Amino acid sequence: MGLSDYQGFLGAAYLWVKAAHVTFVIFWIAGLFIVPRYYIHHQATTPGSAEDRAWIEREDRARTIILTPAMLIVWVLGLMLAVNVGAFGQHWFSAKLFLVLLMTAYQGWIGAYGRKLAGGYRALENKQLRIMNEVPGILTALIVVLVIVRPF
Ligand code: HEM
Repeated sequence: MGLSDYQGFLGAAYLWVKAAHVTFVIFWIAGLFIVPRYYIHHQATTPGSAEDRAWIEREDRARTIILTPAMLIVWVLGLMLAVNVGAFGQHWFSAKLFLVLLMTAYQGWIGAYGRKLAGGYRALENKQLRIMNEVPGILTALIVVLVIVRPF
């Protein structure tokens, strides 16, 4: 494909941006799977114990080093792609954006629950935490189908 085949403002960088987008999507989702699993183990510790403090530090690092940067980069590259391919107004993209907003809200919940745990609260039962842990997997499957199959 020559340079002239790439219509949007990204030009020949379009595929590199898409490759980077998918790569950071993988990092983001890895973080969305790891951190709630940390919470399940963390919940079993006694508030204030050495183990409790160790989990608080691990969770904080995973959120600040993996989750937040990956989410921001996915959004920036995703919106660049959306402008480049003229995705706004297409139904598959509107549905995708809605599900990605839900995924971003889920990350908000991860932050809020982490602060509660760090404050010594064990607000949810492990069973409830395991159910919450399924959310990113379900959203990921739906988002990938929307962007690749484009059913509508
Ligand atoms: C954060 C907001 C996001 C925006 C604005 C966005 C937007 C886009 C756009 C416009 C494309 C390019 C489509 C094309 O080349 O025609 C794309 C590709 C893709 N996105 Fe996203 N995306 C976002 C988040 C995500 C998330 C969270 C996932 C997965 C869970 C994801 C998975 C993918 C995949 C797999 C592709 C490649 C599709 C292909 O090559 O056909 N995106 N995204």
